[in-house]
Amino acid sequence: MREVKEEIGLNISLIPFFRHDEYWWFVKNKEKVKKQNIFFLSKLEDEKQQIRISFEHSSYKWLRFDEALKEIKYKTYIDLLQVANDYINCINKMNELNNKYKDLPKSIKDWNLSRNFVPGEGPLNAEIMLLGQAPGKNEDEHRRPFIGMAGKLLDETLKKNKIGRNKVYITSIVQFFPPLNRAPTEEEINYCMPYLKEQIRIIKPKIIVLLGNIASKSIANTANVFKNHGNVIKSDEYKCKLFITIHPAAAVRIKKNISIFEEDFKKLKDVIKEIKNEETNKE
Ligand code: URA
Repeated sequence: MREVKEEIGLNISLIPFFRHDEYWWFVKNKEKVKKQNIFFLSKLEDEKQQIRISFEHSSYKWLRFDEALKEIKYKTYIDLLQVANDYINCINKMNELNNKYKDLPKSIKDWNLSRNFVPGEGPLNAEIMLLGQAPGKNEDEHRRPFIGMAGKLLDETLKKNKIGRNKVYITSIVQFFPPLNRAPTEEEINYCMPYLKEQIRIIKPKIIVLLGNIASKSIANTANVFKNHGNVIKSDEYKCKLFITIHPAAAVRIKKNISIFEEDFKKLKDVIKEIKNEETNKE
């Protein structure tokens, strides 16, 4: 952000979670060198700001997305622009959807959940989506998913398997706290499911990790998570794979469940690798 200020005189803020990596090779002193460019997405703090380019640059042009596509010569940058534009469209769709979802309590007379909406968190183009049951008290207070004890175990387990929390989209079947930490009722789940399904359609994950009974039953229609954990199901409805495991809260509460959770995540890592291999073979 400092560089942008110095080079073009603009104050920007970063759009959370977006990151696009590009790799290329070149030869230097007869040696092959791999170079990585990391692109972020930002927005202007104030749209009225004027560009002041530094002496290192000669000119600039503001273009709309469709105009820019025509001007850019390199395919990698055309692809990058497309990815960024798709991402902005996802942000707009998700904001519009969540603005309706957060008002759901107002439209239901006997609403019996918290009125605080806890939106999902993570990249809107994440390949991996994690689905829990419903936010807990901590999540309700801070309006962020999985930040309590279960979240801590989840973070540690992701880290052990080299899956960055900032690379996955995390949310729950019901995105409002059920008081006293009770499980959400079937009726409450039914109120919330259409919104969740729409969120899944926006994100288009390659795999959804179902954490616990409620998530497994609501999405994969499997009853007992302890019988089905570790299983991978191909879903036509969600157009991705589903992976069943126990809820991290069950592993926090009962220590012997920790090994189940950890073994499942090791398996998940292999399943993710397989999905990546299938993709490369397709290309
Ligand atoms: N448990 C869940 O299922 N979701 C959260 O966000 C936190 C705890």
